[in-house]
Amino acid sequence: MSTDRLYIFDTTLRDGEQSPGASMTREEKVRIARSLDRLRVDIIEAGFPAASKGDFEAVQAVARTVEYSTVAGLARTTPNDIDRAGEAVQPAPRSRVHTFIGTSPIHMEAKLRMQPDDVIEAAVTAVRRAGRWTDDIEFSCEDAGRSEVDFLCRIIEQAIDAGARTVNIPDTVGYNVPAQYGDLIRTLRERVPNSDKAVWSVHCHDDLGMAVANSLAGVMAGARQVECTINGLGERAGNASLEELVMAVRTRQDYFPCDTGIETTEILPTSRLVANVTGFHIQPNKAIVGANAFAHESGIHQDGVLKARETYEIMRAQDVGWNNNRMVMGKHSGRNAFRSKLEEMGIKFETAAELDEVFARFKDLADKKHEIFDEDLQALVTEVYAQEVNEVYQLQHMRVCCENDVIPEAEVTLLVRGEPQTATARGDGPVDAAFKAIEKIVGSDAELRLYSVNSITGGTDAQGEVTVRLQEGNSVVNGQAADTDIVIASAKAFVNGHNKLAQREFREHPQLAADL
Ligand code: KIV
Ligand code: ZN
Repeated sequence: MSTDRLYIFDTTLRDGEQSPGASMTREEKVRIARSLDRLRVDIIEAGFPAASKGDFEAVQAVARTVEYSTVAGLARTTPNDIDRAGEAVQPAPRSRVHTFIGTSPIHMEAKLRMQPDDVIEAAVTAVRRAGRWTDDIEFSCEDAGRSEVDFLCRIIEQAIDAGARTVNIPDTVGYNVPAQYGDLIRTLRERVPNSDKAVWSVHCHDDLGMAVANSLAGVMAGARQVECTINGLGERAGNASLEELVMAVRTRQDYFPCDTGIETTEILPTSRLVANVTGFHIQPNKAIVGANAFAHESGIHQDGVLKARETYEIMRAQDVGWNNNRMVMGKHSGRNAFRSKLEEMGIKFETAAELDEVFARFKDLADKKHEIFDEDLQALVTEVYAQEVNEVYQLQHMRVCCENDVIPEAEVTLLVRGEPQTATARGDGPVDAAFKAIEKIVGSDAELRLYSVNSITGGTDAQGEVTVRLQEGNSVVNGQAADTDIVIASAKAFVNGHNKLAQREFREHPQLAADL
């Protein structure tokens, strides 16, 4: 069987970020991009540069950071979008402009209010303009899954003639079923006269739970790029999950005529990082990266696995990053061991001062907690990065009174731009009281959209990792923190969210914005 290369186009930082509440700061995007680079994804779609100054700068920062992957920026077909995307990805060693326009009757009539010929004209003009910036141009037919095949053939042929080197066929609304989607890819490849001049790409959403199956049907029909996200993050029900696609193809090399260049041992750390940053935690039974994905609970299964692993396991847990680096650290671990441990986990600090800061926090944690696992270090680093936003507020002191039959009360002191301010409040519980006291100081009317506490490791001395999602107007941010005391972790996460809101940027949603 021939083994073609299957290109992995990761859109966690763009389509993934469009998931309500999954917005990321520039620094968070850069950290995830580094992890995707280590994972060896072929293309990282870093964002939608025309959406806002913040998005432009985030894409540019990713382009400056990434060493291996091509960096793509998304653009509608307008000259401004194309130029913003082209400019933002310039610093990358390899850059791509990805332009798209709606091609289904409903998109053309209701959203774009354009005639089909004008849509073709806009696509061709955009692809040509993108050629001013790079040779690597991708063209997507938004809502291709509900578009007319004859029209798709016309627009794709002309986009390829204009210079598109990748053509992407999104099932934007997750409407297709595998056999139908596979047929669509096969038919288009057969009917578009210059189809051999481009790489065919699939991009499937998971509204009916078929994004991965549809993408793989597309691969069997000849697509050689799959667009996907870590943990399947994305619009509504999400996109096809990178880890499932990659491991399906890798595990079933007897079936698929292609393979990816993914460094699979980086899957789990990347998945954890994305879950950490977005606050979208992974369900235990999620394929590949869920806590139970390789756990054998029943006696019969355990017995079988002990006798011969293959009786119940089709993949090796360590191949996707489980159990690789569980070197435990403790209070006697030195700075060098700590640094090399972080480097093993792919975490490098720009300055010695940053390393000192994290090391000091590690020592504090080691005083409270006997053994420190990889997950603890990951949370610690996430917190340090999260606090790198220019902090307006800092938690200086907190006292919470919590007794049965007594209304909980919290007294909180924040440093507000360096000046201490104290407030007290009562609440339904200690966390509620602490949040109310913080709100009094911050004076914001942000709504709490999510409050989640996750135990990072086992045991009662485990750190609680808290995510709070705050919304103020159109801005949604995630605040994170971890501590062995979950009330303190909650207060720190709440303060972190308010710091992010204090420097928010409004970002336009690319598929809600009118295509012109
Ligand atoms: O789902 C979709 O159609 C998209 C395009 C912008 C590629 O995300
Ligand atoms: Zn999409």
